[in-house]
Amino acid sequence: MRRILVLNSKGGCGKTTIATTLASRYACDGFNTSLIDYDPQGSSMRWLAQRSQNRPAINGVDAHRNLAMNVTSTWALRVPPMTERIVIDAPAGVMGHQVLDYLRQIDTIIIPVLPSHIDIHAATRFIGDLLLIGQVRQRGINVGVVANRVKKNTTVYSALQRFLTSLKVPFITSIRDTQHYVRAAGQGLGIHEMWDHRAKVDQESWIPLFDWLENETAEENKKIVQKVS
Ligand SMILES: Nc1ncnc2c1ncn2[C@@H]1O[C@H](COP(=O)(O)OP(=O)(O)O)[C@@H](O)[C@H]1O
Ligand SMILES: [Mg+2]
Repeated sequence: MRRILVLNSKGGCGKTTIATTLASRYACDGFNTSLIDYDPQGSSMRWLAQRSQNRPAINGVDAHRNLAMNVTSTWALRVPPMTERIVIDAPAGVMGHQVLDYLRQIDTIIIPVLPSHIDIHAATRFIGDLLLIGQVRQRGINVGVVANRVKKNTTVYSALQRFLTSLKVPFITSIRDTQHYVRAAGQGLGIHEMWDHRAKVDQESWIPLFDWLENETAEENKKIVQKVS
């Protein structure tokens, strides 16, 4: 089972877009997929409610209603036993020690970052918190950054890239700013379910992210095999 958390304290950076796109792609690939929404705004669950019965099914867990409970036990109890991929959509404003609530029983964190100096500055602080307070390395959690809503020739990320390189946090891919995402979201679809040929270049921009996620699985499996043999 893979458990992927999409997290950044900033609102509007693309957490829900990334969480729903991942869930749709996994479901289309035949994985038994759960989408867990911790955001009181409930955007992921609204997206799922728009999704046609004819599309590959995704199990939705409206987790924010149960935040009084321990964050992990809430969803662990509510995903079907055969679940292979869990994608968790976090709310905005998770900072400092609050991140600890979200780090139990997850494998991977994806951090979407918008191309503005304010967002990049906030993201560097946030990643610092994850590494220091969250101790994600010690917990064996992989962290990767995805640039979102990128317009052509964006050089603004170079400072972030240097910061990430110094921390050995990978910068995985850049996702374009396009209305395809807005249209897909309104229909409960992922970008990979859009048949418009103009969305092809956007679909391709996700390949490095899926490769990174699957390769980590391969690494994890290797470790398990080594332990067993
Ligand atoms: N790559 C993109 N291109 C165009 N619009 C986007 C893109 N990513 C997100 N959006 C839009 O930006 C808004 C905020 O994105 P969302 O995924 O809801 O962010 P968050 O969950 O972090 O608050 C939404 O209206 C969404 O459709
Ligand atoms: Mg959201």
